[in-house]
Amino acid sequence: MNSPKEMMNSILILLLCALFSSTSHAVLQNFCKADLRLQQTPTGYPCLPSESVTADDFKSSFNGKPGIPVPTNAVLYPAAVQNFPIVNGGRISGGLVELAPGGSLPLHTHGANEILIVFSGRMDVGLLTPRRAYQNTLGPRDFTYFPEGMQHYLINSGPGKAVAFAAYSSDGPPFNFLHLTLFSNNVSSPILSDVSFIGEPDIRKNKARFNGTG
Ligand SMILES: *[C@@H]1O[C@H](CO)[C@@H](O)[C@H](O)[C@H]1NC(C)=O
Repeated sequence: MNSPKEMMNSILILLLCALFSSTSHAVLQNFCKADLRLQQTPTGYPCLPSESVTADDFKSSFNGKPGIPVPTNAVLYPAAVQNFPIVNGGRISGGLVELAPGGSLPLHTHGANEILIVFSGRMDVGLLTPRRAYQNTLGPRDFTYFPEGMQHYLINSGPGKAVAFAAYSSDGPPFNFLHLTLFSNNVSSPILSDVSFIGEPDIRKNKARFNGTG
């Protein structure tokens, strides 16, 4: 006859065995190079066969790449699933942000938490919440945190170029720029003015600038 204590011990051992076997399965699946020709799903792209993955898939470079220009004298260099498919489903990505003198990255959000580390130059950064804003000036080796879904901005406040590294808790968080959400649409200017508290002349001016209509 088993004592209650012996039974508890057997249950514990069974649970540990189950945990161990499930983690060792996970280890076999710990990378999945995206097949970018197929449709992205909520958990990532379908995988290419792991036998086709080589060391080259684990290395990439921004050298010689143009980056993504943002109208305000900023260039983004993402290291995300779309250009670095080995991170598919890995819940992580990164990128370089370069701000020319006088440049900025206007208000935006991501579907990911972000840590931003400044390499060179100086950046004024701000995090906006419905109740208050958190503003800081960052120099080389300083870093900051932008939580998922919160509006934030970067302004080059130094005399030269400013460069930062950004890490994201998602394999490819889109940039949702507030100015595009507000002005690159076809909602009529009077309605947008009513619901945004922005004057109609400014709405019309910015719709013209950011390819909106209405
Ligand atoms: C805006 O565009 C959508 C299609 O993208 C269309 O269905 C809608 O009627 C347009 N609205 C106006 C006010 O033009």
